[in-house]
Amino acid sequence: MKKLKIASLPGDGVGKEVVPAAQQVLKAVARLHGGLQFDFTDYPWSCEYFLEHDQMMPDDALDRLQDADAVFLGAVGNQKLVPDHISLWGMLIKIRREFEQVINVRPAKLLKGITSPLASPKDFDLLVVRENSEGEYSEVGGRIFRGEDEVAIQNAVFSRRGTERVMRYAFDLAAKRQKHVTSATKSNGIVHSMPFWDEVFQSVSRDYPAINTDSQHIDALAAFFVTQPQRFDVIVASNLFGDVLTDIGAAIMGSIGVAPAANINVNGKYPSMFEPVHGSAPDIVGKGIANPLGQIWTAKLMLDHFGEEELGEKLLDIIEDVTAAGILTPDLGGKYGTDDVTKAILKGINKL
Ligand code: NAD
Ligand code: IPM
Ligand code: MN
Repeated sequence: MKKLKIASLPGDGVGKEVVPAAQQVLKAVARLHGGLQFDFTDYPWSCEYFLEHDQMMPDDALDRLQDADAVFLGAVGNQKLVPDHISLWGMLIKIRREFEQVINVRPAKLLKGITSPLASPKDFDLLVVRENSEGEYSEVGGRIFRGEDEVAIQNAVFSRRGTERVMRYAFDLAAKRQKHVTSATKSNGIVHSMPFWDEVFQSVSRDYPAINTDSQHIDALAAFFVTQPQRFDVIVASNLFGDVLTDIGAAIMGSIGVAPAANINVNGKYPSMFEPVHGSAPDIVGKGIANPLGQIWTAKLMLDHFGEEELGEKLLDIIEDVTAAGILTPDLGGKYGTDDVTKAILKGINKL
């Protein structure tokens, strides 16, 4: 029996609605497998937890998560209770950093039965590989002076090691796909890091002669995501560029409620973390209509991570059967709730 210890962090808002849904799905998938078991430990860390404890997570939180085979997170953030820079920096970003989850993998493709906002979308199937530890999200910067003279400074940090690492990761994934990597750059603007980014991209690409490459300025690339998403295979992007691109990727998939993500620890020292692209969706919380597909697709990425790709593919097929049957939440134009979609997926699994 392959037993996997999963630390569950539903977090805030709809995270608490979609994580239990995906847990049920993972349990059902494990039964289907026969030799697989998920042992979930739930942790209540969230903005509500902050109100009681004055911190997002206890001091020993990372020690407790360290033993898990993976972390399964919903979403963090409730600006009514705690400012985002306190809640996110104290939990999501902290885990990504401390657990050296330096790569963020975010697929985007259109599932059957889902209407994209694009007028005539061609079949697209792309993968954004986002640098997840440095770049524009560096801790170098601060605020100086006060009042009218106040200045806020943010220094982007691009290390050769981190830049090469994310690029090699993208090339290795492209080798298993359509063999094309697009680099998201901005070396035409006065952004000192970007000519460096381009140089590293060129030098890494020389080690992968079988992979085709191109480089696109991020502004044009963002537009191409809308006009011609089908032209992309793997896109490698810095932290902030990748963040914005993946919300566009989510939008053209029909809703951010569908988009999955994996924060990967590549050196094996710490668990990786699986969380959808979306946030806590405060505008729909408590209504029972949060789309669980992003979290469930994220569970599929976790299965892949554990070497259960076949099972992962089966799960994605079932997700697609459900979308094709029109069992959709309101963000996708449907009339069904979180539970209806989850039950339809469970039914699909139990039929296999
Ligand atoms: P958001 O993703 O929470 O919401 C944007 C829009 O998408 C909203 O209209 C929302 O209703 C909709 N949406 C999101 N998830 C959905 C789902 N599963 N089903 C249906 N509709 C869904 O982004 P935001 O409004 O910018 O952020 C809200 C809070 O979440 C903030 O505190 C933000 O910092 C935080 N956030 C957290 C994460 C994370 O933990 N990974 C990611 C993004 C935002
Ligand atoms: C994401 C989110 C986070 C990010 C925020 C909430 C810190 O937008 O996971 O895409 O910017 O990485
Ligand atoms: Mn984001």
